[in-house]
Amino acid sequence: PYPLYAEMRKTPVLGDEDGNYAVSSYRLITELLHDPRLSSDIRARPPDDPKQQAVAQSSISPAFIRTDPPEHDRLRRMLTRQFGPPHTVGMIDNMRGDLEKYVNGLLDRMQDRKQIDIVDDYAYPFPVDVICKLLGIPPEDEKRFHGWAEDIAFSLDPAIGEEGRKLIAKGLVARNELGQYMRALIDVHRKQPGNDMLSRLITDSSADGRLTEEELVSSSVTLLIAGHETTVNLITNGTLTLLRNPDVFERLRHEPDLIIPLVEETLRFEPPVQFNSQRTALADITIDGVTIPKGAPVYLMIAAGNRDPVRFNEPDRFIPDREDNQHLGFGSGIHYCFGAPLARVEVQIALNALARRLINPRLVVDPPPYRQSAVLRGPRHLLVDVDG
Ligand code: HEM
Repeated sequence: PYPLYAEMRKTPVLGDEDGNYAVSSYRLITELLHDPRLSSDIRARPPDDPKQQAVAQSSISPAFIRTDPPEHDRLRRMLTRQFGPPHTVGMIDNMRGDLEKYVNGLLDRMQDRKQIDIVDDYAYPFPVDVICKLLGIPPEDEKRFHGWAEDIAFSLDPAIGEEGRKLIAKGLVARNELGQYMRALIDVHRKQPGNDMLSRLITDSSADGRLTEEELVSSSVTLLIAGHETTVNLITNGTLTLLRNPDVFERLRHEPDLIIPLVEETLRFEPPVQFNSQRTALADITIDGVTIPKGAPVYLMIAAGNRDPVRFNEPDRFIPDREDNQHLGFGSGIHYCFGAPLARVEVQIALNALARRLINPRLVVDPPPYRQSAVLRGPRHLLVDVDG
C-alpha cells in the first residue's frame, strides 16, 4: 500500500465522490487527532451508516475508543487506574520474567522443526495468552477467542458494498457472543474476585464512581480485541522486516538493546494499524485550504503520515536505530493507544527471543500472504525455514 500512500500525500486532504475524506500528511494527521471538532463517537454518524446500524443492534454499548469526552475521559481514567502508569510500569516490569519464559517455551516446542509459521506458532498465541492472564480469563477458554477476534477485526474496515455489510454482520455476531461470554465471566468474578484486572475493575470505586455492568462488558471486550490482532501483526511485521534485513537481524543478536528503537521503527515502517478508526466532522473544518464539511467521514492515514518525507529522513528505509522517531503507530491525542506500554514490552521480548534462538532463518515465501484487511496490516502466515 505504500506507493498508494505516497500518491495520496500529494493531495494530503483528499475527498472522494461519496464525501469521504482521507488525510495523509504527518502534520495534518497530528493536528486533526488533537482537534475536538473531529468525533470518534460512532453514534455521530448518519442513521443509514451500516456501522451505526450495527451498533444500534449490538448488545454491547460503544467502548471508549468509540466515544468522545467527557464519556471517553471518564472511562479511560477508570481503566487507567488499573492498567496505566503508575500501575502499568510496575505491573509490566513484574511480568517480564513470565513473558520471557512463555516465549522461550514456545520456541522450545519448535526446536526440532525445520519450518515454522511465525503467525500460528508464535505471534498469535503469545499476546492472547498475556491479555487473557491479565484480565483473568481461564486459559482453557483462550482458543475460543481466535474466531471472535478475527471476525471483529475484519469488520473494522470501511464498509464497502455487499461484502462490507456481510463483514459487519459477522463482526456483530462475534461481538454479541463475546459480550455474552464476558457477562458470564464478570458474574463469576463478582462472586469470587481474584487477583486480576477484571476483578479490580468490578470492585474499584473512585471519584468517577464505579463502572456499570455495560461499561465493564464493553471495556473488557475492547481490551481483549485491541490487545490481540494488533500485537500479533507487530510481531509478524517485525520478524518479516528483520528477515528481509539479515544484517539487522545479526546485529540484534549481539546487541539486544537495539530492540528498543527497532520496535519503534517497525511501528513507523510497518504499522499494524494503517489508519485510525473512522472520525466524523462535527463542524465544517478548513484545513490546508480544504473544507471538510460537517458530517463527513474522515480517515487519518497513520501509515502514510509515518512515511511523510517532510517529517522523516529517508522515510522508506528501515533504520533500526532511527532517532527522533515520533511515529503515529499508536495514534496520538486523547485516543493514544492505551496498551502501548504492554505492547512494547511484549514485542521487544518476542523479537529478541527470535534473534537469540533462530538459527539461519530463511523466508519461504516473500511477500507472504496477507490478511484481508485494509486497516490491520499483517501477514496471515509467515513461513520460515530454520536449521534447528
Ligand atoms: C488505541 C495501535 C496494542 C488497547 C489505539 C490506537 C492505535 C493503536 C493506532 C488509536 C486508535 C484511534 O485513534 O482510532 C495499537 C498497536 C498495538 C496496540 C499497533 C500493538 C502493537 C494494544 C494493546 C491494548 C490496546 C495490547 C490493550 C491491552 C487500546 C485501547 C485503545 C487503543 C483501549 C483506545 C484508547 C482510547 O480510545 O482512549 N491502539 N494498539 N492496544 N488501544 Fe492499541
